[in-house]
Amino acid sequence: IMIKTARFLTSNQDAKKCPPPNKPEYAFIGRSNVGKSSLINMLCQSKKLAKISSTPGKTQLINHFIINDSWYMVDLPGYGYAKVAKTKRAAFSKMTFEYLNTRENLMCLFVLIDVRIEPQALDLLFLNTLGDEGVPFVMVFTKADKLTPTVLDRNITHYKAVMQQEWDELPQMMVTSAEKGLGRDEVLGFIDNINKE
Ligand code: GTP
Ligand code: MG
Repeated sequence: IMIKTARFLTSNQDAKKCPPPNKPEYAFIGRSNVGKSSLINMLCQSKKLAKISSTPGKTQLINHFIINDSWYMVDLPGYGYAKVAKTKRAAFSKMTFEYLNTRENLMCLFVLIDVRIEPQALDLLFLNTLGDEGVPFVMVFTKADKLTPTVLDRNITHYKAVMQQEWDELPQMMVTSAEKGLGRDEVLGFIDNINKE
């Protein structure tokens, strides 16, 4: 799967001002620091396309990138970062949901989950909301390189078991490491299949 070109296009606070919705779009969301920007860079094999920081709350706007001049990747702000002021968090959430509910070319939202961490109420609630609102999404576990294969398996099995208590059918799940390039073919293959439809 080839990414020939990946270019930054725009940063927006307002979903209405995003680039024209005339190309398929894939967005990345999840808690602050989960690795959204890192995953975008890994997929595009670029070190500095999306800005990365060890300080949570780095990405604060809706960032559009254009891939192969034919589809969009979108880096969204993280949710759930306690140190961001409440008013600002509310504004992020409003911006994000306006984006999710109005972006007609959004083919799939990738919801990133740090595979090291016990399932969190905030993530489960967010996933439920997506289900309720009919936003197409899949789950992407990040930072797999930080665990041994045994613990990785155990955590994913546990996450599924927790979700099964509320979900009849589990969403598709992928495992990635931005550090090691793990999951790149799976994520890009998934996107490629939708683009070909
Ligand atoms: P915000 O924009 O602040 O919401 O964060 P983000 O979700 O975009 O996270 P970002 O990509 O900036 O990464 C946060 C930190 O996690 C950085 O220090 C990254 O180097 C690190 N990180 C991200 N992905 C991985 C990974 O797969 N493996 C390892 N080991 N570290 C990672
Ligand atoms: Mg970011």
